[in-house]
Formats: sequence, structure tokens, C-alpha cells
Amino acid sequence: MKPAALFVAQRALLAAALAAAGAAHASESAHPKAQAWTPVTLQTALKDLPKGNIAAGQKVHDSMMCASCHGASGNATTLNWPSVTGQRFDYTAKILLDYRSGLRDEDERAGLMTSIARMMTPQQIADVSAYYASLPKPVAPQAQVALAAPLNAVEHKRVEQIVRRGDPNRLITGCASCHGLHGEGKGTTPAIAGQTIDYFIRTMRLYHGGARHNDVYKGMSQFSQRLGEADTQLIARYYASLGARATAKAD
Ligand code: HEC
Ligand code: HEC
Repeated sequence: MKPAALFVAQRALLAAALAAAGAAHASESAHPKAQAWTPVTLQTALKDLPKGNIAAGQKVHDSMMCASCHGASGNATTLNWPSVTGQRFDYTAKILLDYRSGLRDEDERAGLMTSIARMMTPQQIADVSAYYASLPKPVAPQAQVALAAPLNAVEHKRVEQIVRRGDPNRLITGCASCHGLHGEGKGTTPAIAGQTIDYFIRTMRLYHGGARHNDVYKGMSQFSQRLGEADTQLIARYYASLGARATAKAD
């Protein structure tokens, strides 16, 4: 099937599934307003999840249509959607819980994930999180490599400064102090190396504007507000370039 036709087919399939899920939700009482996390409630919720099974997680990825948007191997099929391969267990699990509760509700794309996450059992959330954590970091699609490559020496230096040391004048903590020196993430702090550029920039803007407010104590919102658009774009390109390089044509 041609990519365009495949895309149309995916959307139709998803629309049907979501319509069915919507019918189920209509009979439920409205979801109560989602509670913001504290470090304690978050750790408790993660501890309460069943143990994840990698093989079962692969089945979830394939059978619940995750693969149709996040790619067969967890590498997003468009630059605007996030890659999920190589992501930390705790972060994936937290985000799926956030979509499910409605805490992550920044726009209609998040709404799509909310419908999907509400179809998932805690076991399926744990399984798929274990599966993604077992996979390598994202392989940048060709389009991403092209976008990410041309950081010149001055830009590179500026970005490395912000990433490693932050900017005391703007009260920005170095990204690496939480996301790791190579963007590998830890626990509920996501891996961001190789993340799709358009998604990266979009989600930073959403933290900035306050539409994405699912982070504990709004830590990310503070940095993204002080960073500014030009630096955000440079940093997105920098992290994209830390993903594995594409050797074949992007899917
Ligand atoms: C129709 C396309 C589509 C399908 C199907 C889909 N997703 Fe998503 N997913 C998205 C989009 C778009 C986003 C970004 C939403 C946003 O900006 O909040 C996303 C976000 C996510 C994120 C957060 C990524 C991050 O870095 O914060 C996770 C985890 C995720 N999806 C997992 C899944 C799983 C697991 C499934 C299957 C059970 C699934 N998705 C099915 C489109 C999809
Ligand atoms: C104090 C720790 C900390 C610092 C410093 C930090 N982050 Fe984060 N970041 C987090 C946490 C925790 C999350 C997950 C928040 C959530 O649950 O939504 C996150 C989320 C993100 C995301 C969203 C990833 C996704 O998949 O949706 C991006 C992009 C990001 N950070 C970029 C940056 C950049 C760029 C910097 C440096 C300017 C930075 N972060 C500094 C802790 C930090």
C-alpha cells in the first residue's frame, strides 16, 4: 500500500475504534478533574502498577494500533508525532496514566491519546512501557537528519552551554542535569535524544504556554518559559542529532 493510502486506512480504523470507545465512555459518569501529581503520589502510582512483560508489551504495541502512529519499531512515522522507542519505563507509564486521567490534555492530539489510554488496562500500560524501555533509542528519519545536521560551531557552542551548564542569568538549569549528558533520561525524566524535532518544539511551546501542565511542580514549564523560541529550536535540533543515524530511507 502507498504511504498516503496507508495513512487514510489507519485514520479510518482508528476513528472506528475511538467511536466505539466513545460510546462506552458516554455511559460512564464524567471523569473527575485530574489531580496534579506530587512526588509521593506519583511514586505510589508507579509502584502500584503490575510488573511489565516485554513480549506482552510488543503485542499491545502491534494490536492496539500504537505501531500505526509511533512506527512498527517505535520510531514515529512523522516528525510531528513522538518516537517511543528506548523511552524510560517510568516516563511512559506516567504519561499513559496522565492521558488516562486527563491530566495531560494540551490539545486534540493529547485527546486522541486520552481515548487510547482509557482503553488500556494497568497491565497493558506496564507491558508496553517495559517493551519500549527494552528497545534502542530512536533512529532519526532522513528528514530529521537533514534538519538536525546544520548546527554551526557558534550554535553548537551556545546549545552545549545551555544543555550542560544552563544559564544562571535566566535561571535555567542545564538540561543534562536531569535528562542525562546524552539525553538518555532517568526514571520519570524522559529520554529526549533522537526525539522528533517538530514534536519536541511543539511540546516545549505547550509547557511554555501552560497548556501542558502534567509535570510535577511544573518544573519543565519554568525552563521552557525562559528559554525562548530561537534557543528551543536549536536545542531540538541538537537533541535530534543525538539519536541513532538513519541508514535506510525513513518509513
Ligand atoms: C492515531 C495516532 C496514534 C495512535 C494510534 C497512538 N498514538 Fe501515542 N501519541 C500520538 C500523538 C499524536 C502523541 C502526542 C500527543 C501530544 O502531543 O500530547 C502521542 C503520544 C504518546 C506518548 C507520549 C510520548 C512522549 O514522549 O511524551 C506515548 C507514551 C504514547 N503516545 C504511547 C502510545 C501507545 C502505547 C499507543 C497504543 C496503545 C499509542 N500511543 C497509540 C499518536 C498516536
Ligand atoms: C529539574 C529537572 C529538569 C531539567 C533541568 C530539564 N528537564 Fe525537561 N523534563 C523533566 C521532566 C521530569 C520531564 C517530564 C515531565 C512530564 O511528566 O511531562 C521533562 C520533559 C521534557 C520534555 C518533553 C519530552 C517528551 O517526550 O514529551 C522535553 C522536550 C524536555 N523536557 C526538554 C528539556 C530541555 C531542552 C531542558 C533544558 C533547557 C530541560 N528539559 C531541562 C525534567 C527536567
